Amino acid sequence: MRVGIVGAGRIGGNAARLLAGAWHEVRLSFARDPSKLDALVGEIGERASGGTAAEAVAFGEVIVFSVPWDAIPLALGQAGDLTGKIVVDTTNQFGSGPMPPVGETAAQFNAGRMHGARYTKSLNTLTANFQAEAAGRQGAERVVQWICGEDGAAKEIVAGLIDDAGFVPVDLGGTAGCAVMEAPRRAGAVYGEEYRLAEAQVVADAVRAGKHIPPTPQYYEPASTQEG
Ligand SMILES: NC(=O)c1ccc[n+]([C@@H]2O[C@H](COP(=O)([O-])OP(=O)(O)OC[C@H]3O[C@@H](n4cnc5c(N)ncnc54)[C@H](OP(=O)(O)O)[C@@H]3O)[C@@H](O)[C@H]2O)c1
Repeated sequence: MRVGIVGAGRIGGNAARLLAGAWHEVRLSFARDPSKLDALVGEIGERASGGTAAEAVAFGEVIVFSVPWDAIPLALGQAGDLTGKIVVDTTNQFGSGPMPPVGETAAQFNAGRMHGARYTKSLNTLTANFQAEAAGRQGAERVVQWICGEDGAAKEIVAGLIDDAGFVPVDLGGTAGCAVMEAPRRAGAVYGEEYRLAEAQVVADAVRAGKHIPPTPQYYEPASTQEG
């Protein structure tokens, strides 16, 4: 597929590398320092190109939207018309800028300001370093990337890209019920935590049923009990 990246920083850059590595074409955009964008395009190679945010949107069947929270209004202004585009919003509500009103998730809020987009949210719960390190794990150790959104067909396409990028996609449902995948890290939420498929399916069932989620799984021995 053709994927436009608006915000080619830590998360957007990771996504670009991983998707280009899976034979997708990526167009990277939205940098204050154009030399960083050029360097990333050069590093990724022939399946990458650079451009303006509007060019990345025009190019992409799917748009990875990955800018700091306070740069969202500027990035949306530069991106232009998103009508009909599948958007993967990776943002978290840290910093300044307009914030979701009480009772609204950040995903609902952003979907409301991405007019006409086929909105999804994903790739936002794990640090960029961890995503880069964990991508491509196999079998039961494959790491979950959560997805939410109202458009089921869009979510299926995003799920395919997440799988291609080396993760296992898990659908949490609509944007109104996705608070557990949003910042900050806290008890009773999946934000900031590693999940694998078996435990994630239990979480997704609980969220869809409007229930509390089980305690966060532990996949590693505490450091004090490790050998060496
Ligand atoms: N970092 C993480 O571990 C992590 C994990 C999950 C989700 N997220 C979320 O994903 C989003 C992107 O995070 P990130 O860490 O990838 O961000 P980042 O590394 O700071 O990248 C932001 C990108 O936006 C560009 N940009 C253009 N104009 C900007 C402006 N006015 N202000 C700031 N940046 C501007 C930056 O270009 P220049 O580099 O040229 O300035 C850079 O390419 C954020 O909403 C964040 O909360 C981050």
